[in-house]
Amino acid sequence: MIKIAILGVGTVGSSVVKILEENADVIKARCGKKIVPLIGVVKDLSKARDVNIPLTDDIKSVIERDDIDIYVELMGGVEGTYSIVKEILHKGKSVVTANKAMLAYHRYDLQKVLKNATMGFEASVAGGIPIIKALREGLSANHIKAIKGILNGTCNYILTKMMNDKGSFKDVLKEAQELGYAEADPTFDVGGFDAAHKLLILSSIAYGIDAKPEDILIEGIDNISSEDIFFAKEFDYSIKLLGIAKKQGSRVEMRVHPSLVPKDHMIAKVDGVMNGISLIGDFVGETMYYGAGAGGNATASAVVADLVDIAREAQSPMLGFKSAGSKLSLMPKDEVETKYYFRIKVKDEIGVLAKIALVMEKSQISIESFLQKTEVKKSASTTLFFATHHCKEANVQNALREIEKLEFVLIKPSMIRIED
Ligand SMILES: NC(=O)c1ccc[n+]([C@@H]2O[C@H](COP(=O)([O-])OP(=O)(O)OC[C@H]3O[C@@H](n4cnc5c(N)ncnc54)[C@H](OP(=O)(O)O)[C@@H]3O)[C@@H](O)[C@H]2O)c1
Repeated sequence: MIKIAILGVGTVGSSVVKILEENADVIKARCGKKIVPLIGVVKDLSKARDVNIPLTDDIKSVIERDDIDIYVELMGGVEGTYSIVKEILHKGKSVVTANKAMLAYHRYDLQKVLKNATMGFEASVAGGIPIIKALREGLSANHIKAIKGILNGTCNYILTKMMNDKGSFKDVLKEAQELGYAEADPTFDVGGFDAAHKLLILSSIAYGIDAKPEDILIEGIDNISSEDIFFAKEFDYSIKLLGIAKKQGSRVEMRVHPSLVPKDHMIAKVDGVMNGISLIGDFVGETMYYGAGAGGNATASAVVADLVDIAREAQSPMLGFKSAGSKLSLMPKDEVETKYYFRIKVKDEIGVLAKIALVMEKSQISIESFLQKTEVKKSASTTLFFATHHCKEANVQNALREIEKLEFVLIKPSMIRIED
């Protein structure tokens, strides 16, 4: 029998208890042992809950117990939780967690304190999709050329709705909040930070890159307008918030931002709250993973899979590499090269186009296509849309600053990166 303590019996924790209870027979058949939750830890004991295990609010006493084999951390939080998890690992006990925020900052610190213990974190990326297993085990024969993922269901729901139903970002966000798909404070999701945490975890496994969220390019979806949606439709693109990591020689570019993705690409078809991840290996080619990226049951499914692995005594290095393993480094944000789309609202007057083209030329940006949309009622202004060939991020940022200074430009120009 494997005895576990569940630190945090909220949305995911209570689903873990339910799975261990309802699927006890199949879980025992798969790992040869019964997995039994002895105790759960919560903050507020007076809350009504639908779980059948003893509960306490005294986490210290639970960590001090000698009869627990595995601790399941489902409280959330970063620094305080990191100290608790570190203390447990120091004692040689294994931990399973879904806590991507803690791992985004401390995955390498935690790896260092693993003695005979194991750390499972399948649930920290893309909920129920076994993406860490795929990357760490299934594709271990390959150099990973690229990871492209829709890693945040809230953003994907909002963007899908904006593409299909023409709502503004604000209106669709409000609707998502009413349906429970977005938090009351949505910044963490719509700002791209949640997706970035997950991309950092995947990139450690694929490339051995020890980067923190502040080291990589992160942009959210809050600036996407109905005009961007218009352009995307005109040119057969979908707009998706992508987490992208790509190996370029001895360096890896990592970024999270809204992307224009050709409609016929598989990832463009991942709609609503679902997650989808494309992993490209040098021998296997492209592989694609799809499923529920959040929710109590889907996330708990991944938590229990980690428990089964530990019960089986399956051995996989926590971050995929047995030794130092990787000599790759992170590419500076400014050096990333991709294709771009610009949206520029200007006074509708002679010479505007030539002046913008000049700025682009000086910034070494070559234009691939161009579209103009004039509003019939407000004909004093017009919106210009440009798609570029591949160019450097630093040049694009420079061009945007210069274009904003031009006297006929009415609002700050906006840009979306294109992912072919
Ligand atoms: N929900 C999802 O879909 C999802 C998906 C992927 C990953 N995750 C991750 O899974 C973790 C848990 O998420 P969740 O949605 O289950 O959160 P939740 O519903 O807010 O549950 C958190 C639980 O932890 C307890 N808790 C919080 N701080 C504590 C403390 N200092 N001491 C003792 N207990 C404490 C809470 O107690 P009370 O019940 O008394 O408040 C609650 O039972 C997070 O790291 C989250 O990022 C969640």
